[in-house]
Amino acid sequence: MKKLKIAVIAGDGVGPEVIDEGIKVLNKVAEIDSTFQFDFTYFPWGCEFYTKHGKMMDDDGIEQLKAFDAIYLGAVGFPGVPDHISLWDLLLKIRKSFDQYVNIRPVTLLKGAKTALQDVKREDINMLFIRENSEGEYSGAGDWLFKGQDHEVVLQNSVFSRKGTERIIRYAFETAKKEGRTLTSISKGNALNYSMVFWDQVFEEVSAEYPEVKTASYLVDAAAMLMIKDPKRFEVVVTSNLFGDILTDLGAAIAGGIGLAAGANINPERDYPSMFEPIHGSAPDIAGRGIANPLATIWSASQMLDFFGYEEYGKLVLEAIQQLLVEGQVLTPDMNGTSSTSEVADRIIEIIASTVSSNRLNV
Ligand code: NAD
Ligand code: IPM
Ligand code: MN
Repeated sequence: MKKLKIAVIAGDGVGPEVIDEGIKVLNKVAEIDSTFQFDFTYFPWGCEFYTKHGKMMDDDGIEQLKAFDAIYLGAVGFPGVPDHISLWDLLLKIRKSFDQYVNIRPVTLLKGAKTALQDVKREDINMLFIRENSEGEYSGAGDWLFKGQDHEVVLQNSVFSRKGTERIIRYAFETAKKEGRTLTSISKGNALNYSMVFWDQVFEEVSAEYPEVKTASYLVDAAAMLMIKDPKRFEVVVTSNLFGDILTDLGAAIAGGIGLAAGANINPERDYPSMFEPIHGSAPDIAGRGIANPLATIWSASQMLDFFGYEEYGKLVLEAIQQLLVEGQVLTPDMNGTSSTSEVADRIIEIIASTVSSNRLNV
């Protein structure tokens, strides 16, 4: 029996509420297949830990996490701890330390999910965002000079390395080639006259190695407009760290809401664990009420199953989400329902169980 070792960082706010439900679903999947099991180890890191210990994680936290096959993360950040500390010392630290340079965020309108757009065909919203996840605008390089004085100066530098830019663009081309889809690059070379001119140049260079992949390139402002006005233009999309952050929240709004949007932080070389999480935050405004939508976290569990090579189970979970949405009976308030976080996950588990018993899933 294979044991998949998962580090669980439930984190803050609604993080623990949604992670508990994702774990229930993963355990259900493992119950179906006798060849593997999940072995979850819980880390109490986050803002509460910070208020007790003055740090977001153990000093050797990164070392401890190295031993795991994957990390399952809820959300980080809570009023009382400055966001730039809580996020830089935990979430971003993990992404960077483990060179999780690919952030995969599907923007796909599942059947039954509601879009914020009007007069759009469901099939027209089916994008795969590949966000650079290790450098760019999130390099953390900068300074704050003469702090508090009249002449204070703040510098926040973007870093686009040849290696970092090329590898994310190449990863995106490989994905588009494998999936037989177009690839769109989103940048901003007209204003960011070094970093994004370089990005566009690397995109052109790598493009020459993939004559079979049809490409497009947009400025980020126009891309934001076109995602709303003509979403079918976008299939596989590659973009920088900050643009990817912003556009995937926009993507969430057109593909069922922030409670449904999932993300995988991948180290493709598998030298380090990859990390799976919903893209939303700790939602302090609804935390503690048991009404957070667990579907994004459950979708990210489906991404984890795919990553482990259990694609048939990844699909099983995603299809269960879709069936739940089509039924439209058991939904949290953000989706205009009246159900609780755990009722949604329980219904997902029932759907999985009935799919398996009626199909006798071939495994
Ligand atoms: P947020 O995503 O937490 O919330 C934005 C809005 O979406 C809120 O109205 C919230 O109630 C709603 N929402 C989010 N997740 C939901 C869910 N599962 N079900 C139903 N509604 C949901 O973003 P924010 O308010 O800008 O940030 C709150 C905190 O989270 C901040 O500290 C921020 O830095 C942090 N944050 C963390 C992550 C992460 O850990 N990956 C991501 C984004 C923001
Ligand atoms: C996300 C989040 C993070 C990001 C924050 C919390 C640092 O917004 O995962 O989308 O900007 O990457
Ligand atoms: Mn974000």
